[in-house]
Amino acid sequence: MAGAVGAEWTALSREIRGCALCPLHRTRTQTVIYRGGEHPWVVFIGEAPGKAEDLAGAPFVGRAGAKLDAGIARLGLGPTEFGIVNVLKCRPPANRFAVEAARTCRPYLERQLALLRPQVVVTLGRWALRSMDPGAPPIMTAAGIPRPVGGWEVYPLLHPAAIRSRATAHRWERDLGTLAQWLNEQRR
Ligand code: URA
Repeated sequence: MAGAVGAEWTALSREIRGCALCPLHRTRTQTVIYRGGEHPWVVFIGEAPGKAEDLAGAPFVGRAGAKLDAGIARLGLGPTEFGIVNVLKCRPPANRFAVEAARTCRPYLERQLALLRPQVVVTLGRWALRSMDPGAPPIMTAAGIPRPVGGWEVYPLLHPAAIRSRATAHRWERDLGTLAQWLNEQRR
């Protein structure tokens, strides 16, 4: 799997692969840990693996992944410049986000971010945003506005799977445009 390197990352990934701390380990095919460059400056945080990810062992490889990849291409990020993780490392049954499991899983996300040390964290959807910032306003209010959270520059976006209407597609495009501009400023 493409991903970050280093002994600590390898040890963390091994720990996650062996995790049995919550009931989701019983129904997973495999854990889903990371996809992206070794030293990404932008990390996208999704919610949880779906069926395609559970089978492939990599985040965002299904339909939502195609939308996300198109968005990332629009941002002009090269393959080594970004990384993708999820709040949950195991697929929840029926793809329903598991809030209890997210609490158990949270330290893995924290450790991944501490090792990857991205300059920008992009949350996808309300659960990823809440996981970074429990006090954040609803996603439709927060999306598209950068918010510093606990030392991270967090930029909330809608979840790509939530783009089901013309209004959400428009919002996704608008927020991506603002993010592209903001990333260009951060690069300088
Ligand atoms: N949705 C997510 O939040 N994460 C994935 O990996 C796939 C779909």
